[in-house]
Amino acid sequence: MSETALVGVKDVSVEFKIRQGFIDEFIRRKKKVVRAVDNISFDIAPGEILSLVGESGSGKTTTGRALLSLVRSTAGNVYFHGGDIGLLKGKQVRDFRKKAQMIFQDPYQSLNPRFNVFEIVTEPLLFNEHKNADRAVKEEMAVKALEFAGLRPGIEYLYRYPHELSGGQRQRVSIATCFIMSPELIVADEPVSMLDASVRANILKLFVGMKDEKNAAILFITHDLSLAWLISDRIAIMYLGKIVEIGPADIIAGSCMHPYSQALTSVLAMVGEERRRPRIILKGETPSPMNIPEGCRFHPRCPAVCDLCRKEEPTLKEVQPGHSVMCHYPGKM
Ligand SMILES: Nc1ncnc2c1ncn2[C@@H]1O[C@H](COP(=O)(O)OP(=O)(O)OP(=O)(O)O)[C@@H](O)[C@H]1O
Ligand SMILES: [Mg+2]
Repeated sequence: MSETALVGVKDVSVEFKIRQGFIDEFIRRKKKVVRAVDNISFDIAPGEILSLVGESGSGKTTTGRALLSLVRSTAGNVYFHGGDIGLLKGKQVRDFRKKAQMIFQDPYQSLNPRFNVFEIVTEPLLFNEHKNADRAVKEEMAVKALEFAGLRPGIEYLYRYPHELSGGQRQRVSIATCFIMSPELIVADEPVSMLDASVRANILKLFVGMKDEKNAAILFITHDLSLAWLISDRIAIMYLGKIVEIGPADIIAGSCMHPYSQALTSVLAMVGEERRRPRIILKGETPSPMNIPEGCRFHPRCPAVCDLCRKEEPTLKEVQPGHSVMCHYPGKM
C-alpha cells in the first residue's frame, strides 16, 4: 500500500461455496466454489476516483463489498488509514462504517421498504454527533441531502416510502444517504445506471465534487468504460475475478495493453482521435468463475493467444510507472 493511500487492498480473494441440489447433498459431493475475486491488490488515495470496469459477473460488486468488509474475504487484507479493517472491534467498526459508505447497485434491495425517505436518509446520523438533533434540524439536513442528489423540492420526497419512488429516484435516495455523512471512502456500485443522461451528468458532477472538495476516495464501479474514462483518475479492468490492467484513465482509454482492455476500448470514440479504431469482437462467452481456465484465464477468448498463455498464468506486472498489465505479451495486439 502506498504511503499516500487512504485504503489499500492486499492479495484479497473472496470465494463462495455454492449450495447444490438434493442428490449432491445426499451423496455428500464436495460443494462447488465460486472464485468471485481472486487475489487482487490496489489502493485509492484521498481525492482520487478509481473506476472498476468489467463485464457482468467479473467480481466488481464483490470487490466493493470486500473493501467495506461487507463480505468476508477468504484471503488477504484491507487497510484503511494503514490499519487492517479485519481487526476492528465494536466502536471501531461503527466508526469505520461512518467513514466508509456504499451506494448499492440495486436500490430496490438496499432501501428498507418499511422506512420512509426521511428515516432512510437520516439513519446514518444515528451514529454521529447529530443523533440527538431536533427533528426540524434533521429534516433540514435530509432535504438538503435530497436536493443535493437532484430530488427537488426535497420536502416532497421526505415522507414517501421506497415503493412510491421510481428506480432512478431510489438511486438518488441512496446517493443522498451516502453523501449526508461526508464519508472519506465511497464505494459507488453502478450509481447512475437507472438515470437518464441529463440527471446522470449532474450526479457525476457530485462525485467529482466529493473527490475535489471533500477529498473523498471513491471506488466507482461500472460496466461502462466511457463513463469510467469521463470521471476517474485511474481505471482498473477486471476479468473473471482478476484485475488484468490498471493505470491512469487516459492511458487505459487511449493506449491500454491487455487484449481484453483493448477489446473493451475498441468501441470508445476518443475525442480528437482522427482515425476510427478497429473494432475488436471477442469470441465465446466469459467462462464460469467455478471453472476458471488453466494458464491465462483470458486465453480461450484472446485473439493473440500463444502456447505460454495456455500453460502459465501471467502476473500483474508494471509496464510503466503506475500502469500494470496481467499478460505474457502486453501490447502485442
Ligand atoms: N453471495 C454469493 N453467493 C454465491 N455466489 C456469488 C455471491 N455473490 C456473487 N456471487 C458470484 O460471484 C461472481 C461475481 O459476482 P459480482 O456480483 O461481484 O459480479 P459483478 O461484476 O458485480 O457483476 P454485475 O456487473 O452483473 O453486477 C458471480 O459469478 C456471482 O454469481
Ligand atoms: Mg455488480
